[in-house]
Amino acid sequence: MARVTLALVGAGLRGRSYARLAHAGGVGRVVALAEPDPGRRAAAAEEFGVPSDRVYADWSELAAHERLADAAIVATQDRQHTGPAVRLADLGYHILLEKPMATEEAEAAAIADAAERNRIMLAVCHVLRYTPYTRVLKDVLDSGRIGRLVSVQHLEPVGWWHQAHSFVRGNWRRSDTSAPMLLTKSCHDIDWLMYLFGRSPQRVGSFGGLSHFRAEDAPPGAADRCLDCGVESTCPYSAKRLYLECLGDPARHFWPLWAVTDDHTEEGVLRALRTGPYGRCVYACDNDVVDHQVVTMEFGDGATCSFTMSAFTPMEHRRTRLLGTHGFLDGDGTTVRLVDFRTGSDEVLDTSTTAGASAADGHGGGDQGLVDAFLNAVATGDAAALKSDAATSLASHRVVWAAERARLSGSVVSLP
Ligand SMILES: NC(=O)c1ccc[n+]([C@@H]2O[C@H](COP(=O)([O-])OP(=O)(O)OC[C@H]3O[C@@H](n4cnc5c(N)ncnc54)[C@H](O)[C@@H]3O)[C@@H](O)[C@H]2O)c1
Repeated sequence: MARVTLALVGAGLRGRSYARLAHAGGVGRVVALAEPDPGRRAAAAEEFGVPSDRVYADWSELAAHERLADAAIVATQDRQHTGPAVRLADLGYHILLEKPMATEEAEAAAIADAAERNRIMLAVCHVLRYTPYTRVLKDVLDSGRIGRLVSVQHLEPVGWWHQAHSFVRGNWRRSDTSAPMLLTKSCHDIDWLMYLFGRSPQRVGSFGGLSHFRAEDAPPGAADRCLDCGVESTCPYSAKRLYLECLGDPARHFWPLWAVTDDHTEEGVLRALRTGPYGRCVYACDNDVVDHQVVTMEFGDGATCSFTMSAFTPMEHRRTRLLGTHGFLDGDGTTVRLVDFRTGSDEVLDTSTTAGASAADGHGGGDQGLVDAFLNAVATGDAAALKSDAATSLASHRVVWAAERARLSGSVVSLP
């Protein structure tokens, strides 16, 4: 396959992960990058061998040049997607864009418009569409083996410590600096469910809120930081336990530990917990996003779907039950049980999924699958390998915004 040159915008956790996967496969090569953090910028430039005159401190500097690469990876934070995505689309880059597309509906629509106007391929990083597990599920559905899909039950087990890391102490803790959690976390799930159904729902409802990580839930004796806390050792959300344990597990150095500090010594971690956001008591943060939410959806033919996102689980693969007129399918992210009502057969399908659900594990093979598909599409000029385009992603984001309106207004929202 032809080599694909890449411009990396945002050399943070996600940007570097995608760039590494692209390099490892031998097809993609980062030839320009933009990253304001000097340490991250230098480390990424060295890791990917980017010449110094193609290393920039801001995406706008990179975008001040004519197109420098075939495609761009836009992996800045949630509120910084629209500017680079629209500008780079206008310059003719194909774009791999981190989810959520944008934090406002009008901005996501502007990105989709820019992709269409410039006839570029734009893939939103809905990695769940690209796992081997999803392929098996989708193949069974499309083959008609379980008949017409009547109901779906879907659970996203965020995980207690992951919630504390990302949505209480971390970057996605506040709606006003990031976005509602249904968008920042579960836009994957709504998108994936729409992929399974093959269409958009017509009505959505939603309930949920922040039920635990609040000042009134702090145990007696809790301090503002775990390092000063007398009850830290009995707290499930102890930052000290979580991050010091990561030191003993190289698989967790990149995620979640790198978000906390790049000094991976005991002293370095303790220093970060003493001064940084990740050492704060989960009951003394400035978080406001939900810790549990339910979304219900109704499709045009009366089919229904219920989705639950919860912090109060182990962190593991999503679980899904598909209830069809001719069969039943029960999946846990690695194995799929299929009961065929015609024959009564009850079998377990092999999905060849060995990777775990976390970002450190590459999202069950989804990160790799997405990067491979994107590079293939750019190299061949054929978007067939991509499982969604900008318009499809915009449609699934619109369902997220509708569900959030339903939750906040206590109503059922109809979609066009
Ligand atoms: N697809 C997934 O499963 C998945 C998983 C986690 C996060 N994400 C999304 O990926 C995105 C990035 O998340 P992350 O964890 O890598 O965050 P991060 O903070 O580690 O990385 C973002 C990087 O963008 C850089 N940046 C800021 N301003 C910039 C500018 N003007 N020009 C260029 N770079 C700039 C930051 O310095 C930072 O290094 C977010 O939108 C997040 O929601 C997606």
